[in-house]
This record gives sequence, C-alpha cells and structure tokens, in this order.
Amino acid sequence: MFSELTRHVSHEDTPSRRALRPPQGLVLVCSTMQIRKLGTRSDLIFPRFCGRIDDRGDYLAIRTPSNPNYYWGNYLVFDHPPVRGCLSRWVNIFHHEFPDYAHPHHYAFAWDDDGRCEPDCTEFLQANFREEREVVLVIDRIEALNHIVRDLEIAECRTAADWDAAWKLLLRTAGPMLTPYHREYCRVCLQHYRRMSEAGKGAWLLARCGGEMVAHVGIYCDGELGRFRQVATLPSHRRRGIASLLVAEAAKLGTERFGASKLVIVADPDSSGERLYKRLGFREQERNDQLSWSPADGALGI
Ligand SMILES: CC(C)(COP(=O)(O)OP(=O)(O)OC[C@H]1O[C@@H](n2cnc3c(N)ncnc32)[C@H](O)[C@@H]1OP(=O)(O)O)[C@@H](O)C(=O)NCCC(=O)NCCS
Repeated sequence: MFSELTRHVSHEDTPSRRALRPPQGLVLVCSTMQIRKLGTRSDLIFPRFCGRIDDRGDYLAIRTPSNPNYYWGNYLVFDHPPVRGCLSRWVNIFHHEFPDYAHPHHYAFAWDDDGRCEPDCTEFLQANFREEREVVLVIDRIEALNHIVRDLEIAECRTAADWDAAWKLLLRTAGPMLTPYHREYCRVCLQHYRRMSEAGKGAWLLARCGGEMVAHVGIYCDGELGRFRQVATLPSHRRRGIASLLVAEAAKLGTERFGASKLVIVADPDSSGERLYKRLGFREQERNDQLSWSPADGALGI
C-alpha cells in the first residue's frame, strides 16, 4: 500500500566497483543489492509497508517520511562493512539521500555483508559514532507453554481505545529513554503498527493483569518472514513469565494466521531478552553491528 522499491544507478564508488571498472570509457552500474541477512530482510518488512526503500545497487536508502525522527527508519544499509575511508563517503551519501535534514540530525548506517571482510569502525568511533551490537535469533514455531500467570489476559489491539492504551504502555516501558523525541517516535510507530495490523500484516498484543496493561509485543509478517517488535513488561510485573507467554502467543499468530515460517527477533547480546528468547527455543542466526550518531553522542568529529 505504502511501499515503493526503486532501483537506481549507484552513486558510491566502492573499492570492488573501482576494481571492476575498465580503464577507459563510461560504465553505468545498475544492479540490485543482494540481501543476505535475515535481520536485514526482516527489518525491511516495515519500510516496505510504511515507508520507502531505494535500491542503489550497493546500498539501500531506507526512508520513513512520516517519522523523520526515527533513526532506524531513515538510514542506509551498505553491502560491505565499514573500512578505513568509509566515514566521509558514507556521510556524504547520507546527505545526498536525506537532503531535508537541515543540519546534522542523525546518521545511521547498517551493513549486510557476506562476513568475509572484518569491519573497521575506528574512524567512526573517533568521530563520536556509537556502535550498536545486536544478536538476531530465529525460530520456526513455538510449542504452547504450560505455565499459567494468574489473572493474565492476552488480547490483540483492535479499537482506538486499545491503541491508545498501547501507546501509554509503550511510554511507561520506555524507562530513561522517555524524551519528547521518543514520545513522538512511539506515537508514529504505533500508528504504523496499527495500519499494518488493520491491513492483515500482523498484530499487536497486550497483556492485562487484574485489568491493568502490563506488557506488549508486536508480530508483523511478510511472506515466510515474521518479525517481533517491542517486547516489554512493566518493571512491577517482570519475572513472572508474562513476556514468555506473550512471545509464544505472538509466534502462534505469526505462523497460524499470518503464514510465516521464520520468526525473527533481535536482542541486545547477553541481555535478559536474549536469555528469554533462547529459553523459548530461538537460535542465534547472526550478529549485526550498526553505527549511528545523534547530537546526544557529542560533537561530530568529521
Ligand atoms: C526482557 C523483558 C521483556 C522480560 O519480561 P518478563 O515478563 O520479565 O519475562 P519473563 O518473566 O518471561 O522472563 C524473565 C525472567 O524471569 C524468569 N521467570 C519467569 N517466570 C518466573 C517465575 N514464575 N518466577 C521466577 N522467575 C521467573 C525467567 O526465567 C527469566 O529469567 P532470566 O532473566 O534470568 O533468564 C523485560 O525485562 C523488559 O521489558 N525489559 C525492558 C525491555 C527489553 O529489554 N525488551 C527486550 C528487547 S529485546
């Protein structure tokens, strides 16, 4: 509905491209970037529906115009990891792709490589970029869990009142991240999840305990792929098995209603989330590193 995937002549002159270029003459390189990682493929479910993906051959420019403050909705995915010399080139490409950010607003770079070249983030880190590490986990189905949490009800968000409650819960589970920027980001993200739910692409589940909203999770699917979003439980209700039950319920919907056979979840390495997912049977598929900068990270050393 909102999707747009376009292909363009690449703007970037990568080392591999320079090596391929004949010594003389004009060469137009027009190709499609190969997506290798399950993490990247499942990330694209969201901009494919709520934004736009421009394939430049050796990188993807991903945009969510309705949520310009969403860093990982407005970013670049390269087909190679960062190496020395990438910083100024990647930053220039970002400016070219996102000319509407009037001043340095954020930079967000991911890469979907074949793992053969070791990333070297040194110059990015020296420029005050932040390195974000993720573990991508996958499962094909989850067996029903047999533990019971007293007074717990799990239901899908359907009405405007449900979505409003979901937004409030998202804010309550945001913890120290709750800045005005984050409030707005959450509001627009939930609008997108609502549109995707209403279009039959997935569901947002809320857990109520004694009538109070205490936990949530989203599951959104495209073809064989399903991707979980925003697993969180209020601090007062943690360690009772609520998130485990929610993820299991969402997985059931993902496979049985939305037809997915690969359910992907992303966690911080060595986090309680990663432990929880592995206990449910998820297995590690890959590690993802990403680089981002925002004004909160300090002066940009470019
Ligand atoms: C991660 C998070 C979602 C877990 O929610 P939760 O409802 O507490 O999850 P569960 O209760 O199913 O499992 C959490 C722990 O409680 C334990 N637990 C579950 N039932 C229990 C019970 N009845 N008694 C004691 N412990 C129990 C689990 O074994 C697990 O232990 P571990 O962390 O040592 O592995 C929650 O901590 C949270 O919202 N964190 C902030 C957001 C976040 O990090 N989300 C994950 C993003 S990937």
